[in-house]
Amino acid sequence: MKSINRIKIIPTCLTALALLIVTSKTFAQTLSIPVETEHNALVLQVDKDKNLKMVYYGTKLSSPSEYQYIQNMYKQPDDSGVLDDAYTPSGSTNLAEPAITVTHADGNKSLNLAYVSHQVTKIDDDVSLLTVTLKDPAYDFEVKLFYKTYYKEDVTEQWSVIKHQEKGIVTLNKFASANLNLKGTGFWLKQYHGNWAKEMQPEEAKLTHGIKTIDTKLGTRANLYEPSMFMVSIDKPATEDEGKVLFGAMEWSGNFRVDLELDPANNLRLIAGMNDAASEYHLKPSEEFTTPAFLYTFSDHGKGDASRKIQRWARKYKIVDGEGSRLTLLNNWESTYFDFNEAKLAQLLKDTKKLGVDLFLLDDGWFGNKYPRNGDNAGLGDWQENKQKLPNGISWLVKEAQANGVKFGIWIEPEMVNPASELYTKHPDWVIKQPERPEKYFRNQLVLDLSNPKVQDFVYGIVDGLFTKNPDLAYIKWDCNAVIFNAYSAYLKKDQSHLYIDYVRGLYNVLERVRAKYPKVPLMLCSGGGGRVDYGALKYFTEYWPSDNTEPLERIFIQWEYSYFFPAMTSSNHVTDWGKQPIKFRIDVAMMGKLGFDIVVSKLNEQELAYCHEALKNYDALKDVIWHGDQYRLQSPWDNDAASIMYVNEDRSKAVVFNYLVNNRYGTGTKTPIRLKGLDPKKKYQVKEINLYPGTNSSLDNALTFTGDFLMNIGVNPDVNANRSSVVLQINEINSKLFN
Ligand code: DGJ
Repeated sequence: MKSINRIKIIPTCLTALALLIVTSKTFAQTLSIPVETEHNALVLQVDKDKNLKMVYYGTKLSSPSEYQYIQNMYKQPDDSGVLDDAYTPSGSTNLAEPAITVTHADGNKSLNLAYVSHQVTKIDDDVSLLTVTLKDPAYDFEVKLFYKTYYKEDVTEQWSVIKHQEKGIVTLNKFASANLNLKGTGFWLKQYHGNWAKEMQPEEAKLTHGIKTIDTKLGTRANLYEPSMFMVSIDKPATEDEGKVLFGAMEWSGNFRVDLELDPANNLRLIAGMNDAASEYHLKPSEEFTTPAFLYTFSDHGKGDASRKIQRWARKYKIVDGEGSRLTLLNNWESTYFDFNEAKLAQLLKDTKKLGVDLFLLDDGWFGNKYPRNGDNAGLGDWQENKQKLPNGISWLVKEAQANGVKFGIWIEPEMVNPASELYTKHPDWVIKQPERPEKYFRNQLVLDLSNPKVQDFVYGIVDGLFTKNPDLAYIKWDCNAVIFNAYSAYLKKDQSHLYIDYVRGLYNVLERVRAKYPKVPLMLCSGGGGRVDYGALKYFTEYWPSDNTEPLERIFIQWEYSYFFPAMTSSNHVTDWGKQPIKFRIDVAMMGKLGFDIVVSKLNEQELAYCHEALKNYDALKDVIWHGDQYRLQSPWDNDAASIMYVNEDRSKAVVFNYLVNNRYGTGTKTPIRLKGLDPKKKYQVKEINLYPGTNSSLDNALTFTGDFLMNIGVNPDVNANRSSVVLQINEINSKLFN
C-alpha cells in the first residue's frame, strides 16, 4: 500500500500559500488522504479502482501512517461497493441514497466519479483547504470536493463545485454539499423542531435502519419547523462531557435536506445539502454550480466540548465582528406595536437614556403612506416614512437620539410585500406567486422574487438608502416573516426549478453588497423569531433573534439549545413583559447573551429601575466573559429543578455562573452544590453573588475563597429556591483585577 508519503510537493510562486498537489499517477494502489485538525481526523482513501472512500472520521490517531489500515479492519458486506463513497453518485452501481444525481446532456442518468487529483492549500497557520477532483470516466463531468479545516477549532466546512463540458445542458437532480460515513456500534440523533414562539425543541432517538431526513421546503423562514442543526452521538448517547459526538449544520438559508442513512452494513451515511425538492438545476457547459458549505465538528469529550469548538470557530471566522463588541438596546415592538408617533418615540428615546442602554431600536410600523403600516396587513414594500407618524422622518429621530446621548437603529423586512402596497401595484412581476392560482398569504404578505437582479437592487437600495440618508444610523433589524407559497418566478421563465436556490443566492448577493459598503454595522437576523438562524446568513449578521417567545422560563430552554451551535454574543435576548417572572429573573436570563430590553421603562418602579441599572453595570463588567469566553452548561433545565450555565474567560481568571429555578413545585431548589467547569484547579477564586435586587442580601458568604480544584470537584451551592429564583455568581481569581 502506498500512502500520503508519496505526495509530490509542487513548488508554487504563491508565497503565502503552501500548495500540495497529487494526481492519480502518483500512486499505484491505494492512497490515504488524512485531513487532520488538532484533535480529529477525517480520512479519505482512493482504492485501486480510483473510487474515493471516506474511511474514518473521529479522534486523530497518534501515528498517521496507520490511517491506511483502517479500512481493512472492517469486514462489512457491501454488494454495491460504494456505500462508503466520499460523494456517492447515482444511476450506476449505487443502491443507497446518493450525494449527487444528474441527467446528462444526452438524457443518460448514470454517473460514476473517479479520483483524479487532490491538493492541499494552507491558507494560514490554522486554516487549510483540501480539494479533491473527481471525474466521470464516461462523461465530461467533474465534481470538486472542498474540505476547509480549522485546525485549532476542529471544525470542517465542506462543499462541492460541479461542472461539465457536455454538449448541452446537464440537469442536476441532486447536489449535496457533503457525504460523510460514520462507523460505530449505534447512532443517536438529536434534532430540533418547532414553530413560532416554540423554537429549538429537542428530540433525541436512536437511529434505526433506513433513512431519517431532516429537511425544509419553506423557502424563506426556512427553519420555522425544523432547523438544519443536529448532533449524532456515536456508540452511546453523548452527555455534556462524555462520549463521541458529531455536530452538523447547513450554512444555507433556504431549503435544505440532511439524510441520515443507517445502511445495510450498519454504518451511518450522512448526506447534507440544499434540498433537491422541486429544485433540479440546469447547468450549462463550463458553468460552475457551487453548493453551500456543510459545517461539522467532532468531539470525543461530549456535547459541551463540541459546542465550544463551534462557538469559537463562529466568533473567529464566521459572524460579523465576532471578536468585537455589541450594543445594548431598547426596542419598542412590545411597548407600542404599530401605534406610535414622534412624541411617543421622543419619550422612548429619553427612556433609552434613562434605562442606560446604548441604542433605541424602532421596530415595525414606521413606513407606508398610501397604505400605512398600522397593522401587519398593509404597507410592506413601501419604505418611505409614514408622514402622519413621522412628519420629520427618520433623520429627525436619529438626531433626537443623538441629542439624548443614544444611538438609533431601525427594523426592516425588505424581502416582503403586502398586496396592500404601492410596490405590489407597481411591480406585480416582482412577487413570488403562481399567475393562475389564488394568492395564499403568510402573515398577510408575499415574498419578493430575489432571483431577479432588479429585485436584488431594490432590496439593497432599501438598506443603502437608509444609511445614505442617515449616516449615523447605527443598527438594523432585518426581519423575514413569510414562507414561500405558490413558488413561481416571472423572471426565471423556463427555469422555475431554480427559484428556491436562486432566491437564497440573490439574498446573499444583496447581503454581500451591504457588507461591502457597511462592513461592521450591527445587523440583527430575525425571522418572526428564529426562522432563519443559520451560518449561511449569520456570515452577514452580528446577532440573531432566537424567538418571539421572551417568557424567561421558556427562554432558558430555547437559549440553552441554541447555545450548542451559536455563541452567546449572537443571541439577542430581550427583557420583555412576557410571563410572570420578576424583573430580576427576566434580566438575569437575558444577560446570558446579548442583552436588550423591550419594556415600558416608564412603568418600572424605583426599585425595578435601580435593578436595571445595577444589572447593566454588572453586564458591562462581565460582557467580555459572556461574549468571548467559553460556555459550560453545568446543569440542564430539562433534567433539574435549577439550570446552571457558566462562562469563563480565556486565561481562566474570571467567570460568571447563571442559575435559575425552572420548577416551581414545593420545596424545589439547589440541594447540592453545582460543580463548576473550565477553571484553573490551582488558582484561588472569590465567589460573589451579584445582581442583588435592591433591599435584598445574598445568602452566600461572599468573603470565602476557594481553589478552582474545590469549585470543580465539590462545587458551589448558589442556594436557588423559590425566594431566590435566579442567582448570578461572579467568580474572580484572587489577585487579579476584580470586576467591580
Ligand atoms: C416579527 C419579529 O420577530 C418581532 O420581533 C417584530 O419585529 C415583528 N416581526 C414586527 O412585525
